[in-house]
Amino acid sequence: MIKSKYLVQQFSNKIKKIIFILFFLTLCSTVFADSKMDLGLEVYSNKAQCGVCHTLQAAGSFGDIGPNLDQMNFQMSQIIYAVTNGIGVMPPWEGILSYEEIEAVAYYVFQSTNK
Ligand code: HEC
Repeated sequence: MIKSKYLVQQFSNKIKKIIFILFFLTLCSTVFADSKMDLGLEVYSNKAQCGVCHTLQAAGSFGDIGPNLDQMNFQMSQIIYAVTNGIGVMPPWEGILSYEEIEAVAYYVFQSTNK
């Protein structure tokens, strides 16, 4: 009897630990995702000035040289490709933006348009 009580308590301690770890991981990934969005917006609005040519409501930009990003459902890989290598009039950003910045701005556009 005493032994099973002990086992139950040990089990619930384990569950508590698991819940704590899950909570911690969720918190980390939220913070991580947010900082990626922040970096993406920073690149979009300032460093690469995508908004000069593109409309994207989330970023408050209304450029009309390139396609309206709100009206497209791009895949991450397509955005990364376009930003890295350029396409048509759009210049390539390889060597100007770091890969981290290219990925962040693609993530930002992807998250802002695929809802
Ligand atoms: C000088 C103007 C200009 C700037 C700055 C610019 N773009 Fe573009 N972008 C264009 C034009 C024009 C096209 C259409 C090219 C074509 O299809 O020939 C385009 C196309 C795209 C596409 C579509 C790619 C595809 O596969 O059809 C994406 C996504 C995109 N731009 C994202 C961005 C992002 C993100 C930035 C900032 C890093 C950016 N653009 C900066 C002009 C620009």
